[in-house]
Amino acid sequence: MTEIAKLVLKNGKSLELPVLKGSENEKAIDISELRAKTGYITIDPGFVNTGVCESAITFLDGENGVLRYRGYSIEQLAKKSTFIEVAYLLIHGELPNETQLKDFVDRISLHSMIHEDMRHFFDGFAQNTHPMVILSSMVSALSAYYSEASGKASIENIEINSARLIAKVTTIAAFAYKKSVGQPFVYPKDELTYASNFLNMMFSVPAESFVKDKVIEQALELMLILHADHEQNCSASTVRVVGSSKANVYASVASGILALWGPLHGGANQQVVQMLEKIYLEGKGISKYIEMAKNQKSEFRLMGFGHRVYKNFDPRAKIIKDACYRVLKKLEIKDPLLEIAIELEKTALTDDYFIERKLYPTLDFYTGIIYRAIGIPVNMFTVMFALGRIPGWIAQWKEMHEDPNQKIARPRQLFTGHKERKYIPISQRI
Ligand code: CMC
Repeated sequence: MTEIAKLVLKNGKSLELPVLKGSENEKAIDISELRAKTGYITIDPGFVNTGVCESAITFLDGENGVLRYRGYSIEQLAKKSTFIEVAYLLIHGELPNETQLKDFVDRISLHSMIHEDMRHFFDGFAQNTHPMVILSSMVSALSAYYSEASGKASIENIEINSARLIAKVTTIAAFAYKKSVGQPFVYPKDELTYASNFLNMMFSVPAESFVKDKVIEQALELMLILHADHEQNCSASTVRVVGSSKANVYASVASGILALWGPLHGGANQQVVQMLEKIYLEGKGISKYIEMAKNQKSEFRLMGFGHRVYKNFDPRAKIIKDACYRVLKKLEIKDPLLEIAIELEKTALTDDYFIERKLYPTLDFYTGIIYRAIGIPVNMFTVMFALGRIPGWIAQWKEMHEDPNQKIARPRQLFTGHKERKYIPISQRI
């Protein structure tokens, strides 16, 4: 029997609201007719308790620390898959067979160059421009070159535009880095894998060829897989909100990149390492930072800790912590920041403040240590997150456009301003 929720209002009116059930038994009360039938709206700042769509892409159980893409656990995918295969899975809903994967890889390689005119855009930015600014601007600019991404045919052309996006973001990201260090741009090479092509564009210079390293390549693949989607987070919701106005996939993803940049979202990975560096350079231990994080009067937060949905370990953080040890050992690196991070985690997990609020380390807490080990500069950390998240954003955009119930995002508000008042001429104002 279908479950119904009954809402009884003070004015004596009552309403039966349908209850929707997800495939993992999650339940949602459908309030879409609430205002029309009662005159009431709901209010939920930060969407803490609001489902905005039905989605079959990613399942996240924050109480039990579970994350699955299209039904496959993040642990299995991290161990067995590649980033490009995961991208295919997220966008198409199923793992590819050999032919499908080869076609997908070839399509991505084919589109890795950006239009030569776009090179000049980089000249307009100051050398110290944050690469997230450059990445979002350039992704937005891609709309200018692929007009079929807009208008009625945009969903029909999503295959080719997905390939373009996945391919070109690595080129744009590497060019942004080259610009910041004053080195010449290195063009993509089709014979390289996705990860090694990116590393080559980042680190090779005309005077010296880049030496491939399997450990670094595998570490990068892992990071990209772990970042690939995370259901209706701030940036994915931004992509959906912008896309709901029928904005094209480049404009929508460019907006997602900017939402990701904030320090409470993807920008946290840069903040974590800057915090760890500060603790290391001060040399006075971690207690000051733990106390600051607990002090409600201070603005300071322990970066990389706490999550809206995870009230348990973030499964990605567990995978990354293990990878940290493995990668640093293989590369023979001893990073003092790892020791500080471990000490912070241990202390926080036994402290009542963090226990009561269920604050656990998230993905961002350890990623920076791996990025440092593989030579990625701190200001590129959030760009790395964005590269990984591209397939997720595309999948969210595509799913929304294919949903027959999709509507333009247009929330309501509870108005708390002035009631109507008379205009006062400036000469009479005090
Ligand atoms: N350090 C200290 N206190 C914290 C922290 C933290 N990192 N995170 C949350 N709290 C406290 C917060 O002060 C509040 O305390 P009280 O109930 O006494 O007022 C309580 O925990 C609940 O926090 P909230 O801000 O109401 O929770 P939220 O769900 O709105 O925010 C969050 C989630 C991720 C923004 C927050 O935990 C945070 O600011 N963390 C640090 C930034 C960070 O690492 N962000 C990356 C998140 S993971 C990557 C991603 O998906 O984007």
